[in-house]
Amino acid sequence: MGLRITERYDPEADLVLVEGDWSELLSQVPDESVRLVVTSPPYNLGKPYETRLDMDEYLAQQHRVILECVRVLAPNGSICWQVGNYVRNGEIVPLDIVLYPLFADLGLHLRNRIVWHFGHGLHNTRRFSGRYEVVLWFTKTDEYIFNLDAVRVPQKYPTKRHFKGPKKGQLSGNPLGKNPGDVWIIPNVKANHVEKTAHPCQFPVELIERLVLALSDEGDWVLDPFIGSGTTAIAALMHGRKAMGADIVPEYIAIARERIRLAEKGRLRIRPMERPVYDPNNPKATVPPKYVHLPHGAQDKLPLFGEDSE
Ligand SMILES: C[S@@+](CC[C@H](N)C(=O)[O-])C[C@H]1O[C@@H](n2cnc3c(N)ncnc32)[C@H](O)[C@@H]1O
Repeated sequence: MGLRITERYDPEADLVLVEGDWSELLSQVPDESVRLVVTSPPYNLGKPYETRLDMDEYLAQQHRVILECVRVLAPNGSICWQVGNYVRNGEIVPLDIVLYPLFADLGLHLRNRIVWHFGHGLHNTRRFSGRYEVVLWFTKTDEYIFNLDAVRVPQKYPTKRHFKGPKKGQLSGNPLGKNPGDVWIIPNVKANHVEKTAHPCQFPVELIERLVLALSDEGDWVLDPFIGSGTTAIAALMHGRKAMGADIVPEYIAIARERIRLAEKGRLRIRPMERPVYDPNNPKATVPPKYVHLPHGAQDKLPLFGEDSE
């Protein structure tokens, strides 16, 4: 059986994809029904899909959508707001700093300010080039889902043992791997990235996979009110979650639909979570792109072939 995709909220759907304003989708979603909200909102930079607003107006707009996300969030759920900088006359305004009070005033609890570091971007001449963005991870209450074992990464010294004391001889690190920490080094989606579409600012699937695995369980709803090219939905569906999202630009919804259609057929390629960042001194230390596998039925069986894009 294939995915059940609807254009209106339906509790029985696997994916709800709305072409329209986020409020159109959110107005249909029941209270406390979503386990994870993960999104990258417009940064107010004058991208093709946004009108540049003054900061107060931008924050008022963000406040409206955050308020609705909090309403639909389950008591043990999480909100992840992925943002960079707003730039005004060469001066930067880190959006996480100005947005934090909106969440805190609604009683949300900040669990991590994750720094997402990447190697490529604009080369600035009047300030240091920006090479990170931020994910603010908030929970609604103190009782929240955090599946750490699902996202552990290899230990640096997996065979290291305690050399004295009562644990002498035992492995000193968790054999399942270590906590990935709050600085995540993941390539951003630039022209040569295997996931690149015509959308101007996609986030990479692997960034969202880690959040989905850690902060939700199978069968949960994952919401992205600004879904763009559908990255959040891909990460959620790959791991047995249900996804819903909206975008006001029809072209981006079309891209999202096409990516989901390819994923359903086992023909969408992504950069795998376990792939190390490219090291020119060790170019062979790599893992090839992989095809998304959705746990929703039969897929074409395709041979995997490598590609050297990041
Ligand atoms: C930063 S992009 C998100 C990209 C997405 N994370 C991805 O991986 O493709 C922000 C998106 O918000 C959409 N957008 C802007 N205003 C919106 C609104 N009022 N309602 C829904 N979507 C909106 C834009 O069209 C854009 O695709």
